Amino acid sequence: SQIIVTDRAGTDHTLDARPGLSVMEIIREGRLDELLALCGGACSCATCHVHVAQADLPRTGAATPDELDLLDSSDHFTPSSRLSCQIPFTAALDGLRVTIAPED
Ligand code: FES
Repeated sequence: SQIIVTDRAGTDHTLDARPGLSVMEIIREGRLDELLALCGGACSCATCHVHVAQADLPRTGAATPDELDLLDSSDHFTPSSRLSCQIPFTAALDGLRVTIAPED
């Protein structure tokens, strides 16, 4: 499985993905270090903010209330905002496209 991640410079990266990892972990394993993920996936830092491609929103579902608490203080919040550490990768998400949100 793979996901496609657009970095802050607008470059697409196709990353190997496997179930059991979060989308944040896949991005970090893919060495896209601009996704800081400072809290390590504990849903408390919001530095793993991504924008999910419109077409993929039905597959990922919406942000949870805990995520929204963190995300709505971002200058780059959109209806497609998610904390990537809160998206468990599954085979059903093969080909998922996300864009790393600009730094707040
Ligand atoms: Fe901190 Fe996702 S890594 S909220």
